[in-house]
Amino acid sequence: MAKSSKYTSKQPNEQGLIEWTEEENQIWSELVARQLECIKGKACDEYLEGLQKINLPHDRIPQLHELNEVLERETGWQVAPVPALIDFDEFFRLLANKQFPVATFIRSREEFDYLQEPDIFHEIFGHCAMLTNPAFAEFTHKYGQLGYAAEKKDRVYLARLYWFTVEFGLMQTKDGLRIYGGGILSSPGETQYVYSGEPEINALEVLDVLRTPYRIDIMQPLYYTINAIDDLFDISQMDIMAQVRKAKELGLFEPKFPPKNKLAS
Ligand SMILES: [Fe+2]
Repeated sequence: MAKSSKYTSKQPNEQGLIEWTEEENQIWSELVARQLECIKGKACDEYLEGLQKINLPHDRIPQLHELNEVLERETGWQVAPVPALIDFDEFFRLLANKQFPVATFIRSREEFDYLQEPDIFHEIFGHCAMLTNPAFAEFTHKYGQLGYAAEKKDRVYLARLYWFTVEFGLMQTKDGLRIYGGGILSSPGETQYVYSGEPEINALEVLDVLRTPYRIDIMQPLYYTINAIDDLFDISQMDIMAQVRKAKELGLFEPKFPPKNKLAS
């Protein structure tokens, strides 16, 4: 998680509503239109079903209560407004309480194509549809509970599991490779890149994932696939912390990316 942000989340007013400007709604509208086109034939069925359920407005940023009504009904989840950046403690605490943190700001037009920080478009378009799926929701809840209870050095391992599933997860289906990770689904560049033949795509083994280093500022050189969304439910029932202990014993894999240039900030 980055240490500072140039963005500030918008505070809800007395009615609990966030007042978005015309320009902010316009940015949302253009992001949604572009990404809906981009994910055709690429997003998994569960995501598309979830998208229908949450019934996202295309012309304006939705208010969080609109999403909460659907999430509450489907899986008992909620979205919670948070500042642009929150620490791991707060992140895990929210997930452990079935609250998905949503930073209530949207990217500026200058950063329309790429934004490293998660804005409201990433959080809602990328993640909320999947949170209507019971297996995905259970996995995310379990992850929050484990992370909240875990020590700092174990959280780093758990973070890899989240990264390669909730953020950058792929699924092998009878129709071909499909995406369920919100980090990909909210990024036109990465959605295309997954199918470019460039990245390595391996079947997900929890122990392997826990041992795989990643960088947040590049296209992922490696993705892991599940075979069905219920695989996430099965993982949520595993003794994940035992796998973390094993991963710590075995150590990390060699990174598949060059070291970050220390001169670049
Ligand atoms: Fe995310």
